[in-house]
Amino acid sequence: MAGKPIGIFDSGIGGLTVFRSIAEKLPEYDYIYLGDNSRAPYGNRSFNTIHQYTWECVQWLFKMDCQLIILACNTASAKALRTIQQKDMQALDPTKRVLGVIRPTAEVIGKYSKTKEIGVLGTTGTVQSASYLLEIEKFFPDLKVYQQACPLWVPMIESGDYEKPEADAIINLYLYELMRQSINIDTILLACTHYPLIQDQIKANLSPNINVIAQGDIVAQSLANYLQRHPKMDGQLSRNGTKQFFTTDDTKEFDRHASRFFSAPVTSSFVSVTEFSCK
Ligand code: DGL
Repeated sequence: MAGKPIGIFDSGIGGLTVFRSIAEKLPEYDYIYLGDNSRAPYGNRSFNTIHQYTWECVQWLFKMDCQLIILACNTASAKALRTIQQKDMQALDPTKRVLGVIRPTAEVIGKYSKTKEIGVLGTTGTVQSASYLLEIEKFFPDLKVYQQACPLWVPMIESGDYEKPEADAIINLYLYELMRQSINIDTILLACTHYPLIQDQIKANLSPNINVIAQGDIVAQSLANYLQRHPKMDGQLSRNGTKQFFTTDDTKEFDRHASRFFSAPVTSSFVSVTEFSCK
C-alpha cells in the first residue's frame, strides 16, 4: 500500500516536543509534521481565525495522504478541534480522524498531584476556552485547577529569544501570577506544546518540589492506546519509519530548532499558505 503517514500539526515548532515523544514511542510509522510558523502564534487570535488556519492545515495534511492527524497544539485543540470533528470532517471524509491533545492530558493529569491543586499554563486562547477546566472536571472532579495565560512565551520561543538571559524575567512574570493564586499548587501542566522548550528555565524559577509536566509522553501513550483500540485505522497506516517536515516559513530557522529534537539533522520543505486556500 502507498504511504499513509500520521500527520502532526502545530502552529510552529512547539508540536515538535510532542512529535519527538510520539516518534520515540511509535518509531515504525511514517510521519508528516506541518508547522504553520508564518502565522504563529495562534494563541492570541480569534476563534474563527484559529479554526480557519487549523482546518486549512488539516486539509493539506489530508492531501498529503495522512489518514490520522494529531493537533499537537493546545490552542488549535481548544478552539478548532470540536468544529473540525463534528462539522468539517463529516462533509469531507468521516473515515479519517483528527485528534487533539487536551483530552488525553486531562485524563491523567490528576494523578501527578498530591495536594489536588494544579496549575495550567497555556496561551490566552487555551485559557479563555476553559477547555482544561471542563475536561479535567470530568476525570478528577475534586481537583482544583488554576490557570494562567502566558501570551509572551510563544512569540519569545518562536523568535529564539528564549535563549537570551533576559528571557528569565518574562518566564517569571507568569509563574508569579500562577503561584500567587494558591500556595498549595504542587503540579504545573505545560498546556502549550511550545513551553517544554523553556521547561528547564521554568523549573529553575520554581521550588524544586513542584512537578512540571510536559504533554509529549502523555500524548504518545494515548496515541499508542488509540491505535490498539482502532485496528482498522492502524492497519491503514504505512510503516517505513520516515519523517517529513514542512513549514510555512523559513526552512533554515525551522531546521535549526527541529534538529535539536531528533538524533539526525532535520531538513524541512517549504509550503506556502497560499496553497492552502486553493480548494
Ligand atoms: N503550541 C501551541 C499550543 O500548544 C502554541 C499556540 C500558539 O501558536 O500560540 O497552544
